[in-house]
Amino acid sequence: MEPSAFPDGFLWGTATAAHQVEGGNWNNDWWAWEHNPASLCVGPSGDACDHYHRYRDDIRLIAELGFNMYRFSMEWSRIEPEEGEFSVAALDHYARMVDACREFEVEPVVTLHHFTSPRWIAAQGGWANPQTAQVFGRYVERVMSAFGDRLGLVCTINEPNVAATMGYLVGLFPPGEQDFARRAAANETFIEAHHRAVEVVRASGAKAGMTLAMSQWVALDGGEGPMAALRGPYEDVFLEAACGDDFIGVQTYTRTRVGPAGQLGPEAGVETTLMGYEFWPEALEATVRRAAQETGHIPILITENGVATSDDDRRIEYVRRALHGVRRALADGIDVFGYTYWSALDNFEWAFAYGPTFGLIGVDRATQQRTVKPSGRWLGDLARHNGSGGLESP
Ligand code: GCO
Repeated sequence: MEPSAFPDGFLWGTATAAHQVEGGNWNNDWWAWEHNPASLCVGPSGDACDHYHRYRDDIRLIAELGFNMYRFSMEWSRIEPEEGEFSVAALDHYARMVDACREFEVEPVVTLHHFTSPRWIAAQGGWANPQTAQVFGRYVERVMSAFGDRLGLVCTINEPNVAATMGYLVGLFPPGEQDFARRAAANETFIEAHHRAVEVVRASGAKAGMTLAMSQWVALDGGEGPMAALRGPYEDVFLEAACGDDFIGVQTYTRTRVGPAGQLGPEAGVETTLMGYEFWPEALEATVRRAAQETGHIPILITENGVATSDDDRRIEYVRRALHGVRRALADGIDVFGYTYWSALDNFEWAFAYGPTFGLIGVDRATQQRTVKPSGRWLGDLARHNGSGGLESP
């Protein structure tokens, strides 16, 4: 077999987020939003994948498939159900998840905030309220003092850019606002909260970074100005804020075309996914290169990349092409130390509920039975061999 192009110790992971898989997270802003008739949510999260109870079997399965890393998130509304009131039972639960990862020899990569906030935070103005940064910092201290010494890699906030823009400008996420000034305020609070969290995480000896939703930006003729205007407050401010972190989590799904009048939809003739995105795996290489350049070359962990499709062959093709891009970036000396497929399980896709299927593992939500898809076996095998073999076209 040819030698692997991936460095020794490369992390091969897959991911979930608490609200998308746990079930019963009724105490956060997303649950309220799913049940708010004014939102455009397709349906409630309900029991999700019951991962809160089934995490051990799920982690064992991920390990058996061949992965050496699992990224998952903490649910703040369970850990701090009312302001200043911490649940030792919830902290113990997440500590047990970390321990299960260690037992099955998969590196736990935990995310402290993945889109959901406790209802009491929302009632205090959510992320447009600058105070939220401080309150978040206190929550992070609790988590890290409970089991931070068992962690190596911590993602502070997942896609603060998406949470701020979708929640305060586009209105598709809670609190459903549409206001440029509020989006700017949310951006600021997220960045401040991130910096506080980095300090706390580092103090307990783990490495810290944010994860950022990035796109391969393509300006058509006359689209350069509008592209810069869209990208600046969405991507650039966060890339700048990430400089000096221990790593940056790059998350990419597709490209974004921008013309003189603004953002364009998919190009005619290009295949689209169940999210309505262009099937564009090459975006991963482009965003990895951009993240390296804009952050002064801090190490990169690809914390999410994947595709929503009901055709599992297309999933394999997507990942195969995306990984070719990673290989090219590595060959150019860019420091990428892991790849995470989104998602481990078919799960709750926010406003779109259970329609788009990203999972390597299917879930029958009536019985909670898991079924590994061929892509899960294929990527797990590739992981086991650190990426050698299996990347060429069939
Ligand atoms: C994200 C999200 C995931 C989504 C995924 C697919 O961080 O955007 O972390 O929660 O499910 O991106 O849209």
